Amino acid sequence: MALYAAAAAVLAGVESRQGSIKGLVYASRFQNVKQLYALVCETQRYSAVLDAVIASAGLLRAEKKLRPHLAKVLVYELLLGRGFRGGAGRWKPLLNRHQARLKAELARLKVHRGVSRNEDLLEVGCRPGLASQVPRFVRVNTLKTCSDNVIDYFKRQGFSYQGRASSLEDLRALKGKCFLLDPLLSELLVFPAQTDLHDHPLYLAGHLILQDKASCLPALLLDPPPGSHVIDACAAPGNKTSHLAALLKNQGKIFAFDLDAKRLASMATLLARTGVSCCQLAEEDFLAVSPSDQRYRQVQYILLDPSCSGSGMVTRQLEEPGAGAPSKERLQALAGFQQRALCHALTFPSLQRLVYSTCSLCQEENEDVVRDALQQSAGTFRLAPVLPSWPHRGLSTFPGAEHCLRASPETTLTGGFFIAVLERAEVPSSVSQAETSAPEHIPSAAPKRKKRRCKAAAAPSAPPRT
Ligand SMILES: C[S@@+](CC[C@H](N)C(=O)[O-])C[C@H]1O[C@@H](n2cnc3c(N)ncnc32)[C@H](O)[C@@H]1O
Repeated sequence: MALYAAAAAVLAGVESRQGSIKGLVYASRFQNVKQLYALVCETQRYSAVLDAVIASAGLLRAEKKLRPHLAKVLVYELLLGRGFRGGAGRWKPLLNRHQARLKAELARLKVHRGVSRNEDLLEVGCRPGLASQVPRFVRVNTLKTCSDNVIDYFKRQGFSYQGRASSLEDLRALKGKCFLLDPLLSELLVFPAQTDLHDHPLYLAGHLILQDKASCLPALLLDPPPGSHVIDACAAPGNKTSHLAALLKNQGKIFAFDLDAKRLASMATLLARTGVSCCQLAEEDFLAVSPSDQRYRQVQYILLDPSCSGSGMVTRQLEEPGAGAPSKERLQALAGFQQRALCHALTFPSLQRLVYSTCSLCQEENEDVVRDALQQSAGTFRLAPVLPSWPHRGLSTFPGAEHCLRASPETTLTGGFFIAVLERAEVPSSVSQAETSAPEHIPSAAPKRKKRRCKAAAAPSAPPRT
């Protein structure tokens, strides 16, 4: 299918609520997914402007065979995009006939609204705003390489390494081919917002994981020492599982559960690519996993990152700017599941530490879920005070909620996120104290990093010189 026809079909599907842009783009089987996705997002963003221009130019009245969604995509390309890069075929001469009128209507709209740039025609809520300024964070996979090797590789590719950032301002100022080490996380590199590394050889070889900074915190704050047994309750597609495996140095065991077979299949590919060997994947409902099963008797750490509304996701904010909050019914259903999953996790007999995280900004899925689970645990678990310097804290909806962490493009220059770390207040008699001590710092977050090379055994075959 040609690019414009595919884009029109996706737009029509989104409008009739058949799915998200991303889902429909993948389902379209169009070969160049990135190109199609970008075109649909941009057309969607300018939808109201395009509707106004098309209507006032009388395009659909004059051209009865041109369907509205295709017209929108074509007019986007003609007036706001890069011209007909996708080969508009028979539609090109037709659009060219209307070009002068369409351009005049766009110009008239700008005069009417008192603006000079196309971007200024967007409603405030439809501008990508700060979400588009979130840097590209890149986690170094320490199962395969180390930060020094990766930094050297990028330097050889012509990138300029600026050292360790000292503040978020340094991250905000990143431009061009410059990159930094994150001020808080030692294995996290930071590139300018629009840097695309999906085709980079180090990413394809599993040396890098493209993961937002906020989404790196759950595994770091869970902080399981090598050798421990961990449950990743809702694991696919597996970014956090691969991070846990790196912290465990592949020693110990991760029991990873997910309900979704397709997501588990891509997770298996990710784990293979990133060299994870300590993980057992299971297509299973976490709520049906029995805490008394002997296989999990040594599980002291649980990561619970359940399905959520995704209201904090940067891709969502870019894809559907101005999209409203999730409906009350959806929030209730999600929060019900999240709460059941959290309460269930807290019943694992040897559990010492649990991290609950979502990429939602809604209190119902975050502070409310944690508050209710703590109440039900009747003092057995409490919130651990973590990362005192983190600027954005949980909403003060119950005493201690400030121990939770929040994240957003505005406050932390990351996607929107929520994290709560729960720790057992009393140690069960079956588990000795020595086995259970859980540090509260981020192990790799020390302010200064010694310059050291990867150990030979842990180092990957050197990345090819470019
Ligand atoms: C937010 S995603 C997890 C992302 C993952 N932790 C990562 O970092 O890549 C939530 C996942 O929970 C899974 N899920 C939903 N309900 C579940 C259940 N009852 N048991 C296990 N997994 C479930 C979904 O299929 C989805 O893959």
